[in-house]
Amino acid sequence: MDIVFAVSELAPHSKTGGLADVAAALPKALAATGLTVRVVTPRYGFITAGEYVGELAVPFGFGVQTAHVFRERRHGVEIFLIDAPAYFQRGRKLYGEPDDPRRFAFFSRAVIELTRWFGKPPDVIHGNDWMTGLIPVYLRTTLRGDPLFARTATITSIHNLAFQGFFDLNDLPYFGLPDDLRQGPDGLEFSGAGSMLKGAILASDALTTVSERYAQEIQTPEYGFRMDGLLRLRRHDLVGILNGVDYDEWNPATDPHIAANYTPEDLGGKRLCKADLLARFGMPVELDRPALVIVSRLSDQKGLDLVRDVAWRILHSGAYFLLLGSGDPRYEVFFQHLRDTAPRRVGVYFGLNEPLAHQMEAGGDMFLMPSAYEPCGLNQIYSLKYGTVPIVRATGGLDDTIQDFDRITGTGNGLKFRAYHANRLMEKIYEGLLLYRQPHVWRMLQQNGMRADFSWARAAWKYRAVYERVCAM
Ligand code: ADP
Ligand code: GLC
Repeated sequence: MDIVFAVSELAPHSKTGGLADVAAALPKALAATGLTVRVVTPRYGFITAGEYVGELAVPFGFGVQTAHVFRERRHGVEIFLIDAPAYFQRGRKLYGEPDDPRRFAFFSRAVIELTRWFGKPPDVIHGNDWMTGLIPVYLRTTLRGDPLFARTATITSIHNLAFQGFFDLNDLPYFGLPDDLRQGPDGLEFSGAGSMLKGAILASDALTTVSERYAQEIQTPEYGFRMDGLLRLRRHDLVGILNGVDYDEWNPATDPHIAANYTPEDLGGKRLCKADLLARFGMPVELDRPALVIVSRLSDQKGLDLVRDVAWRILHSGAYFLLLGSGDPRYEVFFQHLRDTAPRRVGVYFGLNEPLAHQMEAGGDMFLMPSAYEPCGLNQIYSLKYGTVPIVRATGGLDDTIQDFDRITGTGNGLKFRAYHANRLMEKIYEGLLLYRQPHVWRMLQQNGMRADFSWARAAWKYRAVYERVCAM
């Protein structure tokens, strides 16, 4: 089977969150199962990778627009980077531009055109989120009669239902899509505008999302972002497949970014990592004082209002609090204020910093992730591997990956609460602080997490099963 994996961000070239990690790791794991996988991604202005392979003519905007294609190879996967400066040369920014709909409609159309170069049409085009949402729509409408794609199936993975790819329906002709896609049962109209994600939900042969729990949740009004009805319609074609993590990148035994390597059997290096981390933040190094860490986009999704509500209580408990994040300025202002009030206990770094993300995982004692919703979440799984006990809310992938610790039976790999309330979070933090004072219990909790296996191989086989199903349809 030949798979084309279309994605708007790809680590290490471009990244705003977990999607980039998935884009780097899943195709590699799929290739290891014997599939031919080609990844297609935008070549944003700051990307310099790839060798030039040629010019691509993309029917778009009432004519033909030109893109330049670059190629590289990584871990058995061919990666195609689409260079179109008018759309992708925007400083460091990936998204959040007024013309995002045109940028990613163009990308989606370009992905399809590019597959004509591959000798044989792909069996499956696998898109991700709204940014590739129009791929299945083009194949079902504009390109319906094209014999080249007669046997190409499509799947879309939903990584975050909150982002729905709204666009002006008057742009349909500009995208090269039929105007009758405005309304009707297959129409893209959603809440008065067009939605590329709605297009993907209706037109893809199958849908996946990134945990089993989230697959259930998004069919409910509470988590469905008003698309729950549409998703219930497609429930027989929707599967939840838990993300894996790439232990080539995230493993304290081999991680080159951290001060000392360590294993579940010998955690000695973790104390060195903690000393190193505290020193990086310019704080006094008191190793017996627990360190609570956060690495996160600063967005409401991540439950940071709960963290804000418990922040002073954390300080009174005597723990360190360290945060690496970027995003919503409201949170930056708050955490900066916290840091300025207690500089010997609080450390903050605003911005993206990949090595520091590794150092936080290695140097922390507990990782806070009280998300309002979490399709999968990768950081809690990284935390498990690094022996940094995750404290999470029971939602989405957090619920699927973290079991609340039971000190009687010694089972469980983290601490988990259910109701979205600051007091519930704080109770779990207090529980963590108590357990931390009992080194042999704490060690058991850490090791339970470190020994768990969330590698990508299992997920890759599940995706393969989905590909086989849609190809047989
Ligand atoms: P989401 O995709 O919703 O942001 P995930 O937990 O799936 O959440 O993935 C987040 C990814 O982004 C992780 O790889 C994490 O280490 C990384 N990350 C988040 N914020 C930062 C930051 N400020 N600096 C470096 N990496 C970050
Ligand atoms: C999204 C989700 C996150 C998930 C990631 C990768 O960014 O917010 O929960 O882990 O995609 O699938």
